[in-house]
Amino acid sequence: MEEEEKQEVEIKKNHEITTQENNKPIPNHDNSTEEDSISEHISKKINYKNLIYYNPGMKIEIINNEGITNYDLNFKIILIGNSGVGKSCITLKATKDIFKEDFTSTIGFLFFSYHVKINDKLIKLQIWDTCGQEIYKALITQFYRSSALAIICYSVTDRKSFKDVEAWIKNVKSNSNPDCKLFLIANKIDLPNRVISTEEGKKCQKENGFECYMETSAKNGINVNELFVNCTLTLYKELDKYIKEKELMELSNRIKLNDDSNYEEKDCAC
Ligand code: GTP
Repeated sequence: MEEEEKQEVEIKKNHEITTQENNKPIPNHDNSTEEDSISEHISKKINYKNLIYYNPGMKIEIINNEGITNYDLNFKIILIGNSGVGKSCITLKATKDIFKEDFTSTIGFLFFSYHVKINDKLIKLQIWDTCGQEIYKALITQFYRSSALAIICYSVTDRKSFKDVEAWIKNVKSNSNPDCKLFLIANKIDLPNRVISTEEGKKCQKENGFECYMETSAKNGINVNELFVNCTLTLYKELDKYIKEKELMELSNRIKLNDDSNYEEKDCAC
């Protein structure tokens, strides 16, 4: 087992201890077959209207199986934002279909895996759920480095968490690579005491160049799977672009080589 995988298993175990409710371990759906979980998610959970970069010819499947070791692509994504905005709840709802009412702040960070199949490519998202508490900020910044995408969350009932989005953007910009994509998530939309409007959220998205703005409720499961499918689609699109660019470059190199050999042949004939 590779070092990273080992670490992942350990942290998952740890997570089961720290987030259990009424001392019951979190079920991990190990008994469900791959097919069951695909149909469960496809029929109940995906709202295709809320997907970005989706076209009707695309085949999307959420593979809810923790034992997957064979995948084509692997991306690291991080969830950041102030403490209590619901980062862990969003991840738990998407990965284990659990909502925890009690608030136990994450210690450091936690790992989760989420698998999405797009067309014939199985993509693994390695989700790093970080803690929003100030005391952990220095530790968390270490984990920004190789992330392909950062999800910045705020709660629509907490103006401070919205104001602090700019500080989180700065953190990402100064600690991760320049290609790191940014998503803005407005969570807890099920609550009646909302103080941040959709317009404010969208304005923040435009002003700061977020790739995507979504409103979620971890409690009701609104948009939680769509969020991670959108992450996958965004990264898949980038990859597709990269592959096409590479193919074009190879093609142009081949043409160039052919031209050169033609030139040499002509030279020899003289
Ligand atoms: P840190 O680990 O400290 O960074 O917090 P966090 O952002 O991970 O917050 P967490 O997921 O632990 O949620 C904090 C509290 O908000 C918990 O009591 C949750 O039950 C509640 N909560 C999270 N998401 C929602 C939501 O969508 N709706 C409602 N009503 N409550 C939510």
